[in-house]
Amino acid sequence: MSTTQTGRDRTNHTRLLAWIDEMVALCKPENVHWCDGSQEEYDKLCQELVDAGTYTRLNEAKRPNSFLARSDPSDVARVEERTFICSENEEDAGPTNNWQDPASMKDELRGKFDGCMRGRTMYVIPFSMGPLGSHIAHLGVQVTDSAYVVTNQRIMTRMGQGALDVLGDDGTFIPCVHSVGAPLEPGQQDVPWPCEPDIGKKYIAHFPETREIWSYGSGYGGNALLGKKCLALRIASVLARDEGWLAEHMLILGVESPTGEKTYVSAAFPSACGKTNFAMLIPPTEGFEGWKVTTIGDDIAWIKPAEDGKFYAINPEAGYFGVAPGTSTDSNPNAMMTMTENSIFTNVALTDDGDVWWEGLDGDPPAHAIDWKSKDWTPDSETPAAHPNARFTAPASQCPSIDPAWEDPKGVPISAMVFGGRVSHNFPLVFQAYSWEHGVYLAATMGSEATAAAIGQAGMRRDPMAMLPFCGYNMGDYWMHWLKIGRQHVATPPRIFRVNWFRKDDNGKFIWPGFGENMRALKWIVDRCHGRSAGIESPLGWVPGHEEINWDGLEAFSSEQFYEIMDVDRERARTEASEQEELFTRFGNRLPREMELQRELLLARLYHSPEVWKLNRVIRADT
Ligand code: GTP
Ligand code: SPV
Ligand code: MN
Repeated sequence: MSTTQTGRDRTNHTRLLAWIDEMVALCKPENVHWCDGSQEEYDKLCQELVDAGTYTRLNEAKRPNSFLARSDPSDVARVEERTFICSENEEDAGPTNNWQDPASMKDELRGKFDGCMRGRTMYVIPFSMGPLGSHIAHLGVQVTDSAYVVTNQRIMTRMGQGALDVLGDDGTFIPCVHSVGAPLEPGQQDVPWPCEPDIGKKYIAHFPETREIWSYGSGYGGNALLGKKCLALRIASVLARDEGWLAEHMLILGVESPTGEKTYVSAAFPSACGKTNFAMLIPPTEGFEGWKVTTIGDDIAWIKPAEDGKFYAINPEAGYFGVAPGTSTDSNPNAMMTMTENSIFTNVALTDDGDVWWEGLDGDPPAHAIDWKSKDWTPDSETPAAHPNARFTAPASQCPSIDPAWEDPKGVPISAMVFGGRVSHNFPLVFQAYSWEHGVYLAATMGSEATAAAIGQAGMRRDPMAMLPFCGYNMGDYWMHWLKIGRQHVATPPRIFRVNWFRKDDNGKFIWPGFGENMRALKWIVDRCHGRSAGIESPLGWVPGHEEINWDGLEAFSSEQFYEIMDVDRERARTEASEQEELFTRFGNRLPREMELQRELLLARLYHSPEVWKLNRVIRADT
């Protein structure tokens, strides 16, 4: 079969056809397959992956039409140190991104990609981020030599001939080049998970000016499913800056009250800090009769201010790529129901009856399983059965809490934006910013702990807006963009809140029960949006009094405990605010003046006498 001049039967898009010809000539695959996105194609590829040893078909009775994949142990997560923003000027990538000159990076990549698909099939994946044909959607075309990627992309995006049809003869698309970086020599036996094992030889490269993505060497998650972090966050954040919208690492949920009032909330938490859990929250049975939370998205939000001054959000994805360990009927029943069938599991354990298992799943651990490295595992084993970043890929349409408007191209109007990280000490459960500018400052200075042992600021990783690894340009300019967007559309920018589910006691135990109980903080947020809750002024922002939170069904959580997780030690809060200077100075003249002003205003408020705030129990006046 000739590999040149392919796709003429599928599209008349001259630029696309020319680009594919160019990629074929560079990568030199044995075959080219244009994906149509059909069930037949999916089934056939899954079977081929089973035959190749990449997929294990799970027990049809327990987990219909589902598969397990085990990655190479060197290829288990995103590689931030090999993620590049290749803007013309280094300053446009900013101090938080790895930068390389675009021309020299292209040269380097062309060397890497030359012949990289030898012995393999090049799959051409046309896909839409956002509902097919919607005005807010963006189209991409990914070429890849991984059938694992194709099958995952079919769940995560609207993929196939439909996207190609929307593209038409002359539509705009973002070219995404991907290779696992493991060409096969004639007669060479393939491995179940081909990749480039040397981290230093992997590349996740973005060209923001020419809007291209080149990814080499990894087959895992955000490194390889290029519609997700690469397109929908890094490149989209650049589009959003230029076009006046926001591309964010946020979940989107709806809160429905017993009277049918609907409030939409978006929330940014860093990776593995509970977005999926919060997006699928089930309110406590007692005290929240008639309340319902619905899910729009669990990882990415595209948010656009409209003529009416409201901010409308869509989820550009069509599936969830969620962390498996810790997910259970107890912690997230909706996620468990979403992955009952038609799902792909990567790096979890395989039970003897052909189902999946991971740490934190309900019930007792199996007496025997095969771990993510294909080794026998028993509860006595010293290593976990599932990799901590093991993931499930499942269609959003299977989520029981999916919001009826989740595919509405108009999006849903966002009333509140919530920001949270893992902070074990001296940070309140929930509070509200005084203004848009104050909120942007709170989001920009957000941090999260890498390890459970870290105390206070030590070991804190700054993760502005949970976008540290995902902002495609200078983070200082990004903050300026946020500030501007709230001012241009003055009618109703969302209210901004900070939350923290992760405060710990002296024994290192979480004080707040979290998960479904987070509804109590969420309801206060919703009440604040509708002017139903007075709130109390504190140096940090508006805080709830104990009586403003619904405690029905959680009376065991005492008001003392509540004040324990709301308390902030002034001296340490001042130290924290002082240390933010270090973050800010890195941005030089790209730092918006508002950031430094807000920091100084906070410091000033922290020096006021406690009487000013009438809040001795929330903000401790230790000094
Ligand atoms: P990415 O998909 O990586 O962007 O992350 P995510 O934010 O969707 O992460 P996810 O929801 O999978 O995070 C799971 C982790 O958060 C697990 O360790 C959970 O136990 C923990 N988690 C989620 N909600 C809560 C909570 O309310 N309290 C506590 N203590 N832990 C929580
Ligand atoms: C994250 O790391 O924030 C993820 C997982 O959502 S991945 O898609 O692999 O980036
Ligand atoms: Mn994420």
